[in-house]
Amino acid sequence: MATAAAAFAHPDLVRSFDMGDRMGDTAYLLDTERTRLRPWRLADAPALVEMNRQPDMLRYANEDRADTLPEAVRWIEEQQRYLSSHGYGIVALEERASGALIGFVGLATPTFLPELLPATDIGWRIRRELWNRGLATEAARAVLDWAHGPLGIPEVLAISNAGNRASIRVMEKLGMVLGRAATVPETGTPVVVYVSKAPAERQRVEDGART
Ligand SMILES: CC(C)(COP(=O)(O)OP(=O)(O)OC[C@H]1O[C@@H](n2cnc3c(N)ncnc32)[C@H](O)[C@@H]1OP(=O)(O)O)[C@@H](O)C(=O)NCCC(=O)NCCS
Repeated sequence: MATAAAAFAHPDLVRSFDMGDRMGDTAYLLDTERTRLRPWRLADAPALVEMNRQPDMLRYANEDRADTLPEAVRWIEEQQRYLSSHGYGIVALEERASGALIGFVGLATPTFLPELLPATDIGWRIRRELWNRGLATEAARAVLDWAHGPLGIPEVLAISNAGNRASIRVMEKLGMVLGRAATVPETGTPVVVYVSKAPAERQRVEDGART
């Protein structure tokens, strides 16, 4: 499905966002054609639990299960703290038309794979009945533009269970390149690691290869 380039929310909003004021009701971080990315609200917890309990939702989850209410509240608070300290994070994904929570997308630190650190990775989850409509790709494209543009992150990784074809297809559609295979030490799960490089970083690598 064709996707529109992300229209960034007002840059001052992105720059000045401060979770300390808990202004999550009005602050949007990014807009895309069909979605909006915004900070988490504690009120999202029931909808998050409901999504995480949908069939197959956690089949390939290495972490971020949040499938009980206390766990979801704890997880949301963790994401709020991460956003506050980093200026980016895993954020709530809304359907623009309805304002409903339809999933999440965003940037994190892949602590479950210490061999990759320091690193930033991108992750996504979409409500089951909305799969295969291009929503994850659309929202993730906006996040990668944000990461490589205003945030100045030269390299973003995407890590997927080797059997998660839908997630790997999203990585391919985003133009990410297969970097390596790895194994999650805690679980022994085989994963693949895809890479997205900012245009300037890509150029630097290509120039280096030519000399
Ligand atoms: C992964 C996930 C976020 C994708 O969301 P989505 O909005 O459906 O993604 P998109 O529609 O942008 O793209 C999905 C692509 O995967 C393809 N796909 C889906 N299931 C597939 C399968 N079993 N085998 C091969 N391709 C598959 C779709 O056809 C589509 O590709 P296309 O546009 O070329 O047809 C969603 O499946 C999800 O929430 N899964 C559970 C959580 C999860 O696994 N998250 C990732 C952890 S790494």
